[in-house]
Amino acid sequence: MYTFKIDVAAPKSELYAELARAADALTSGEPDAVANMANVAALLWEYLPDVNWTGFYRVVNGELVLGPFQGKAACIRIPFGKGVCGTAAQTGETQLVEDVHAFPGHIACDANSASELVVAVKRAGKVIAVIDLDSPSLNRFNAEDAKGVELLAGIIAARI
Ligand code: SME
Repeated sequence: MYTFKIDVAAPKSELYAELARAADALTSGEPDAVANMANVAALLWEYLPDVNWTGFYRVVNGELVLGPFQGKAACIRIPFGKGVCGTAAQTGETQLVEDVHAFPGHIACDANSASELVVAVKRAGKVIAVIDLDSPSLNRFNAEDAKGVELLAGIIAARI
């Protein structure tokens, strides 16, 4: 059993620092990518308030394929350049979307999703996966969330 003392009401910078520590501890020394992604998805699901989907899409043969996640069953394959995840994968840049319905080509996996944050996970400069967070609230994510998830992506990049 893993128990983490993470204060979900802490300021975002502290919350993400705690999450980064927990993710590092959970994945350190574990070579199995699926296990590591599953635990990080569960960590984000448990400790991030106001989210309805947390998880991974992996780059497999030039497209994104669904990875470990928490939330409703989701679309399995996303081409590069399509939707929020495909845009993050293609550009390598974090996508912070205040209102998914205003994002051209947004792929609706859960009708409740209103805002979204997608961060590319890179190894040796190449995108190998994306971390996707969805929220039922508009404008749920800001630059601090982006920075926090980017920190997390950096920690786990060599372990997934
Ligand atoms: N909304 C995403 C698709 C993945 S689901 O949100 C889990 C997109 O537009 O890429």
